[in-house]
This record gives sequence, C-alpha cells and structure tokens, in this order.
Amino acid sequence: MPPNEIAIGSDHAGFELKSVIKELLENLGYIPVDYGTEDSCSVDYPDYAFKVSEAVSKGVFRRGILICGTGLGMSIVANKFPGVRATLCHDPYTARMSRLHNDSNILVLGGRVLDSEVACEIVKVWVETPFEGGRHLRRLEKIRLIEEKIRNGV
Ligand code: RB5
Repeated sequence: MPPNEIAIGSDHAGFELKSVIKELLENLGYIPVDYGTEDSCSVDYPDYAFKVSEAVSKGVFRRGILICGTGLGMSIVANKFPGVRATLCHDPYTARMSRLHNDSNILVLGGRVLDSEVACEIVKVWVETPFEGGRHLRRLEKIRLIEEKIRNGV
C-alpha cells in the first residue's frame, strides 16, 4: 500500500476532469494509478466504481478518487464495499470535513457539476487534510459494526 499512490477512475462524464486531476496529483507528489475509462465514449459508471472501490477495500491503495457526471452513481457503488468511506464533495469545506470527521478514503467528484478549478481545490484539501480521530474514531467503529452485522445477515 504505497502511501503516495492514489487509485483513480471515471466514466465518460468524468473523463475530462480525471485528466486534470491526474496532472494535479502528480504536481502534488502523488502517483495516480488510472483504472480508466480511457476516453469520452459512453461506459457504465458501476464498472469503474467497482475497480477502484475493490482495490481500496482490499487495501491495495489507501485512497481513491472516482468521477462521474454528478458523483452520485459512483458514491452509491463505492459505499457498498466494506471499509470504503466514499464522500461526494462539492467544495473545499466538505472535502476538509470528509477527511477530518469521516476519514474519507474515496473522494467522489461530479465532472458535470464542478468547475475544474474548484475540483482541483477540493482534491488538494482532501489529500492534505488528516483524520482528526478522537470522538470520530468511535463513530467509524460504529460504521464498521454495521458492516459486520450486514455481513452476518442481521
Ligand atoms: C452518465 O450519463 C451519468 O449518468 C453518470 O456519469 C453519473 O452522473 C451517474 O450517477
């Protein structure tokens, strides 16, 4: 799990923003590992959400970024994976809080709703903000217990 590698994936609606975010990540000293898509041809977001979320859930990467048109579809899929805390962020404030309080490990962006400058600010804040811990650890533990109950069919 190299700390500076970040898995990234998008559908066609997020493809353009993905290229911008990859360049930003490189400039910030991270290595984006691209799970596709490769161009603007229409594809299905669950396929790309699956690849990145599975890799984060299994611990191959500590963090991932997913981009579709609104960010909604990617969020729905990503949060089905155990241990994934995917957060759809619309501004630097939600990005900061998603790290401080939720220990977000997948950042989700909407390529059709975000200006690329704002998207870059969001990514910068998200990669640079640490988890606050403290009382938020207790809350994350409750999420883990919910996942365990679901796994056991409760
Ligand atoms: C694709 O048209 C669009 O539905 C997708 O990118 C995403 O916004 C779904 O939530």
